[in-house]
Amino acid sequence: MTASGIDQRVRLAVIGAGEHASERIYPCLSFLPVDLAAVCDLDDSRARGKARAFAGEEVYTDYKKMLKAIEVEFDAVVICTGHATQPALAIDAMEAGYPVWTEAPPGPSATDAAAMWESSSRSGQTCMTGFMKRFSPVYQKMRTAIASTEFGAPSMLSINWSMGQRPHGWGNSFVLESGIHVIDLARYMFGDVTQVFAKEHDGHSYVATLTFANGSIGTLTMTVNRVDQFTEELHVTGDHGHYIKTDTSGRMMRYHSGEVVEVCDRPLSLQDSLKDIGYLGELTEFVAAVREDRQPATATIDCAYQTMRVHDAILRSAHEGGAVDIDDI
Ligand SMILES: NC(=O)c1ccc[n+]([C@@H]2O[C@H](COP(=O)([O-])OP(=O)(O)OC[C@H]3O[C@@H](n4cnc5c(N)ncnc54)[C@H](O)[C@@H]3O)[C@@H](O)[C@H]2O)c1
Repeated sequence: MTASGIDQRVRLAVIGAGEHASERIYPCLSFLPVDLAAVCDLDDSRARGKARAFAGEEVYTDYKKMLKAIEVEFDAVVICTGHATQPALAIDAMEAGYPVWTEAPPGPSATDAAAMWESSSRSGQTCMTGFMKRFSPVYQKMRTAIASTEFGAPSMLSINWSMGQRPHGWGNSFVLESGIHVIDLARYMFGDVTQVFAKEHDGHSYVATLTFANGSIGTLTMTVNRVDQFTEELHVTGDHGHYIKTDTSGRMMRYHSGEVVEVCDRPLSLQDSLKDIGYLGELTEFVAAVREDRQPATATIDCAYQTMRVHDAILRSAHEGGAVDIDDI
């Protein structure tokens, strides 16, 4: 890589060849200007399987060996191993001189995200987090409408989300592992959060009220207790009758004073899950940032740190009772 970026295809090393990576990360690589230089997984057969399927050149079971390897050259590292392991792997990769993308959440808590941010600042290497909803076309359209002068000052947001999986064994980890994406979506739409007040029921249902730095307010409801029902509905209110909603099918309706002023409908039958959910967009942005030797436009680790603080505040508020200021996290 030169100081001005990479002219050729980006050579990626991918750590993690588990379920999510197999279904949604490796399949994106075929649409990107990348070559899969190396695949690493503790499970050799998984790593070999991905290398075979996606033309991976080298296979490792020890990521430290891969980072030091002389038999293979790569430009960036993609990490999809789970929140418990990602902080140490990402920090080692950045310290070894590589820009890094990790799945979301970046780590178990804001403290871990802060350590990753610190390593990114010290090493000068990018650390991007896979907050894919920021790259979903319908949410980008909604975000643009919210930022327009016409929409006016954001006043209220509500997100009603259920994960569509049985609650067995999740405990409250569903908030960290999946709810984190809607917590980040709230921040993407309305900006930084200053305070949360949350309640939980039996570990499977959470309600949080959010106060945003811009003075607006919001609610976030998250549950795994609808069993196989997946729900994702957003309602955002601006000023003087400006209101936008999206429903679970990805349809956006924009209203002004009771009249529909815009409809964006992408029927489920036409949706491409990699593109419409944002997986392809997030990796496209990471690869472009590596090629152009710049920071990604969004979802960098400083941004992910702020989302993790809101997550930690929701759990603390639900556990201890009362409102929690984000500054206390
Ligand atoms: N963005 C999304 O929509 C979404 C969806 C599902 C999962 N995820 C996230 O993706 C991550 C991975 O999920 P998954 O379903 O692929 O998990 P998984 O448990 O199926 O796979 C993890 C893989 O990482 C490997 N691994 C763990 N530590 C390693 C190490 N030190 N070196 C090399 N390999 C190592 C494991 O052997 C395993 O194959 C999680 O952080 C999860 O939260 C995101």
